[in-house]
Amino acid sequence: MSELKNDRLLRALQRQPVDRTPVWMMRQAGRYLPEYRELRAQAGSFMKLAGTPDLACEVTLQPLRRFPLDAAILFSDILTIPDAMGLGLRFLPGEGPVFDHPVRSAADIDHLPVPDPCDELRYVTDAVSLIRRELNGDVPLIGFAGSPWTVATYMIEGGSSKDYRRCKAMLYDEPELLHRLLDKVTQATTAYLNAQIAAGAQAVMVFDSWGGALAHDAYRLFSLAYMERIVRDLTREADGRHVPVVLFTKGGGQWLEAMAATGCDGLGLDWTTDLGQARARVGDRVALQGNLDPCVLYASPDTIRSEVARVLASYGSGPGHVFNLGHGIHPAIPPEHAGAMIEAVHQFSPQYHEQ
Ligand code: CP3
Repeated sequence: MSELKNDRLLRALQRQPVDRTPVWMMRQAGRYLPEYRELRAQAGSFMKLAGTPDLACEVTLQPLRRFPLDAAILFSDILTIPDAMGLGLRFLPGEGPVFDHPVRSAADIDHLPVPDPCDELRYVTDAVSLIRRELNGDVPLIGFAGSPWTVATYMIEGGSSKDYRRCKAMLYDEPELLHRLLDKVTQATTAYLNAQIAAGAQAVMVFDSWGGALAHDAYRLFSLAYMERIVRDLTREADGRHVPVVLFTKGGGQWLEAMAATGCDGLGLDWTTDLGQARARVGDRVALQGNLDPCVLYASPDTIRSEVARVLASYGSGPGHVFNLGHGIHPAIPPEHAGAMIEAVHQFSPQYHEQ
């Protein structure tokens, strides 16, 4: 493998000194980019893009051709695992993901196979290897998966949900059943992330997008406990380097200490948490990634620059910060506004790092 030319992300996630704060964006490859929309229209479906390594590689690289980002993130989705379990994933225009065969009963759960990542998910690891080759060491590649709880919400509801009525009913009526499902998804997710690492992912992120919907104790039992198992069972070294793991629970600001105690390297923060206070709470245990409100990118470039300056000041001096949005970039954001954000991080962050 070629030498990594820009290792700011990996260093920051290990709280090592850097010359400036590394920056990337959640959902940086996607619909806000006209070149993505064009390729997506040609391919005909999201799964065709994600399922064809050449196309997934191309889409992964698109934002890097436009912007001086410090990381690439694999173009795929958190729902590839249930798809590989046979649930039949489709993305309907304007409706989001839909499963043909949602999981509702004990029999459904007991019959679910744990997919072999080298077989049913081979298209993902092939994409990872190809992207690594094409990146040629310019920036590190981030692999990812959904948290078992977040993925299970889609498997049980059959798609996106506002109230999580079926999975919450299962949680309260039949907690053992939900644990059986979470256990299977955890096994599949661990094997999947380890396969991504073996194929060349240099850091991995677990998206717990809907952990914040859980009641206080339920979060620990039904989401955090399973992410902790994943962190414990991941391969943490590849090519002679540590492979950092980042956990992101949207709406999880109140659980940062518990999340940091899982043994992960970094925590993703949404915009509802104060970055400086979060830093004081987790101390030197983990790095922090975030946390600009994605809606700031609807504002003018001047406002974007001052909001970037505020986030950087809030974290303060020293290592351990990865600049990012507090959630994914919205499809209607003008790409130049993302560019203004990234440029501002380049311009304002060196003062927070001693050289
Ligand atoms: O650039 C990147 O960040 C990598 C690609 C990526 C996608 N999805 C591509 C995608 C990543 C990291 C994800 C993660 C993901 N997928 C999450 C966790 C992060 C988060 O945003 O909370 C979740 C909850 C999903 C599930 C999902 N996938 C939904 C709800 C939808 C439809 C609505 C939406 O947000 O777009 C998707 C589809 C999807 N995944 C698209 C993309 C670019 C849009 C599909 C299209 O082009 O039609």
